[in-house]
Amino acid sequence: MTKRAITAPTRRRFLAGAAAGALLPLAPRVAVASEHRLVAAPARAAIAGAPYPETEVWAYNGSVPGPPLRVKRGATVKVTLANEVADATSIHWHGIRLPNAMDGVPHLTQKPVGRGERFVYEFAANDSGTFWYHPHWQSHEQVERGLYGALIVEEDAPPEVDRDVVWMLDDWRLTAEARIAGDFANLFDVSHAGRLGNRVTVNGKAGADFPVRRGERIRLRLVNAANARIFGLRFGALSPQLVATDGHAIAPHPLGGNRLVLGPGMRADLVVDCHGGPGERVAVVDDFYPRQAYRLIDIVYDAGPPLREAAPRAPIALAPNDLPAPDLAAAERHAIKFGGGMMGRLAEAEFRGKVRPMRELLLEHGMAWAINGKAVGGHDHAPALHLKRGRSCVFAMENDTAWHHPIHLHGHAFRVIARDGVPASRVEWRDTVLMNPRERVDIAFVADNPGDWMFHCHVLEHQAGGMMAVVRVA
Ligand code: C2O
Ligand code: CU
Repeated sequence: MTKRAITAPTRRRFLAGAAAGALLPLAPRVAVASEHRLVAAPARAAIAGAPYPETEVWAYNGSVPGPPLRVKRGATVKVTLANEVADATSIHWHGIRLPNAMDGVPHLTQKPVGRGERFVYEFAANDSGTFWYHPHWQSHEQVERGLYGALIVEEDAPPEVDRDVVWMLDDWRLTAEARIAGDFANLFDVSHAGRLGNRVTVNGKAGADFPVRRGERIRLRLVNAANARIFGLRFGALSPQLVATDGHAIAPHPLGGNRLVLGPGMRADLVVDCHGGPGERVAVVDDFYPRQAYRLIDIVYDAGPPLREAAPRAPIALAPNDLPAPDLAAAERHAIKFGGGMMGRLAEAEFRGKVRPMRELLLEHGMAWAINGKAVGGHDHAPALHLKRGRSCVFAMENDTAWHHPIHLHGHAFRVIARDGVPASRVEWRDTVLMNPRERVDIAFVADNPGDWMFHCHVLEHQAGGMMAVVRVA
């Protein structure tokens, strides 16, 4: 380790560093294998907290969130999924650029994994960053029931922090008996903002405190695993620096408007220097929805002596991943229009090869949304777009609806290059971009990963209601 440590290295860390230093010149870099087993099964979890009973959930290895998988960049990740829930399932590795056959989309990249069956996922984790995993079968129900977890790919040389913490954000729609309400993908949710819950959790717990030490530097990895809730987080007197979007390095900068906006599926890495006084409390407030602000979690300083007096000077910028830079001048442009939803102006859409009025589509088929005039339901996975492998592409996207949509592309990372025609001021890589109502967003990427890839809204009720398409790269 050549970087100046901001904490005294422990003996173990010191030895590991010394050993690595001694070996590196001799041994070539060997990909480490990282093996895991995830059992999707019914479980119980204290979602609502006392005095409510535990909630019956579906969980990986019995916990909500599922176990955080932490691997080194370049590692081969091997995960055996065993399905013990009363439905088929699959795992999608959200944000990971992997071979198509490992992407976890039933009827597109693999067969659904039936109850009692197994599937082995294996891929190289070539990008470092904060990713996550969840089913891609009945996602609006299975993710809501608790099937999700974090996948952390560690940098070769991570920034020096005192703690590296994941907060998986979710909300739940619970009944008065703390059961998960069974009204999945009802027509109201599908045609409006999606399924918003009445209990918000951080790592499966509602209203817990987050203890910190004075002077501590924390890397906070936020993952929005909610079906539909968008978070707009304020950190009180703290001034977090944003260092990664959807796992990918971004030039460190303070939060725009002092607020971190995170749509479903999206991630953010923050570096937070905790500079408060002994015993102080900082409420992290979510005020995304007007007039519905609430405290997400309290950051609570301990009473002890500070870890350090001044903020550490160690750099916080992350090393960039090796992403192919799109050639904007030569890129092929595809106009993509999202339409539908309540208060929309889309009168009709094509569904299963036939153009029908939106009203009929909603009432008869639960479809409320369309991409370029097409509503896609079930496992209709005919490609909507054909991209030539290796080509630079621009998607000029237009949200012609009255709602927010976090738009996610599988198998690739893209740059957000403009919003409403205004070029981006930073290089911002993502796999999911939040579009405001009526907003236009241009993204650019190199279509370098062959296969059939999902392209959909990550409000899972919108996805179920037609807002998806397949992009073929060949
Ligand atoms: Cu996180 Cu297609 O999904
Ligand atoms: Cu949407």
